[in-house]
Amino acid sequence: MRIVSVVGARPEFIQVAPVSRALRKKHQEILVHTGQHYDYLMSQAFFDELGIPAPDYNLEVGSGSHGRQTAEILVRLEEVLLKEQPDLVIVRGDTNSTLAGALAASKLHIPTAHIEAGERSFDRRMPEEINRLVADCLADLHFCASRVALQRLAAEGITGSVYWVGDVMLDAMLQNRAVARRKSDVMARLELEPGKYALVTVHRAANTDDPVRLGQIVQALNSVPETIVFPAHPRTRKALNRIAAHFAPHVRLIEPVGYFDMMILEENARLIATDSGGVQREAYFMGIPCLTLRDETEWVETVEVGWNKLVGTDPERVLDAWFNFVPPAEHPPIFGDGTAARRIAQILESDVLAFGLPRGQNGAPGERLIANLASLEMGVNP
Ligand code: UD1
Ligand code: UDP
Repeated sequence: MRIVSVVGARPEFIQVAPVSRALRKKHQEILVHTGQHYDYLMSQAFFDELGIPAPDYNLEVGSGSHGRQTAEILVRLEEVLLKEQPDLVIVRGDTNSTLAGALAASKLHIPTAHIEAGERSFDRRMPEEINRLVADCLADLHFCASRVALQRLAAEGITGSVYWVGDVMLDAMLQNRAVARRKSDVMARLELEPGKYALVTVHRAANTDDPVRLGQIVQALNSVPETIVFPAHPRTRKALNRIAAHFAPHVRLIEPVGYFDMMILEENARLIATDSGGVQREAYFMGIPCLTLRDETEWVETVEVGWNKLVGTDPERVLDAWFNFVPPAEHPPIFGDGTAARRIAQILESDVLAFGLPRGQNGAPGERLIANLASLEMGVNP
């Protein structure tokens, strides 16, 4: 098969690495970078570190309003798809690159697969929620990271094309953790001791674009008597400058870090506080308690099993949870077994090549795979 993979933002580069590796064993992959993220530390750093093949196309759309950015990707990607005539387009997650990728492909009647399908926050003010809803509605194949996602898709009438494969972010972590431990010197560089600091990331529009919520986060972090490492997304850095935020000396605002450094910072943290979808899951993979600086999350299973707590941005609530939140001993493998990419490749080879794409029909291949995965007793603890 000739497969176009569309990526554009930081988490998509991390996710594409294991998937590319699995797909390229038997298929031709054409990698399209939309250019949504473009700073070295937000883009090329991940290609260099993770050995992701260089993109065949970079659409160089850059930043812009939602409409402009999505439209630019749509126009430029359509040209690529018309030229390349792929058998399948793969999009992942919930970014504007995901939305435009699904839209461009489906308008050209090219079968489309969505990785990380079925995630919902049920908050349509969140740009990502619109992107996911549309991508899932248009996709012909849905690869889910969690079981809950299957139920959400079923509730929307999307069934026959749905597979629970587990989370490709877990694949990425397992494939890179040992090398990260060998290569990253971030603990020494930042003079950190394991278990003696908290790691914070913030970049959601609901937090960065609301001066009140952002101010509350700054106030909460300043009040915590603990070293905090805060690699700031460029969007967050700009928003902090806009409100002239001032941090106490124990809050170490740094540039975004590479994936290896990030894994090492995560695994050695006493606590993680974040509004990132990827970081919430990575905290769970690594068994680190997580406070989510949002009012809702797509990753409800991490909250249900007791390892993630929704604290919003109210300083009192954040501070109350900061030292009192203790997850349970149980740590079930809610995101699969770290072989999601291989499963995706297998499904494309077996079910899809053999039976064709399940376009909206109520077939059962997805359920077969769920049964297989459920029967595995693989933990995801380190
Ligand atoms: C996007 C995704 C979000 C994802 C995040 C991952 C959408 C709607 N949102 O959010 O789901 O969690 O990526 O990090 O697609 N900027 C730079 N340099 C860069 C990239 C961005 O300076 O390389 C700044 C620009 O000022 C830009 C702002 O960050 O306007 C926001 O970037 P954008 O890609 O629009 O959204 P993210 O907040 O990164
Ligand atoms: N990440 C990173 N460096 C950083 C911050 C995050 O490598 O400075 C990684 C993080 O480990 C995770 C991914 O980026 O794998 C998450 O991306 P982000 O938080 O930007 O987006 P989201 O997951 O919320 O869509």
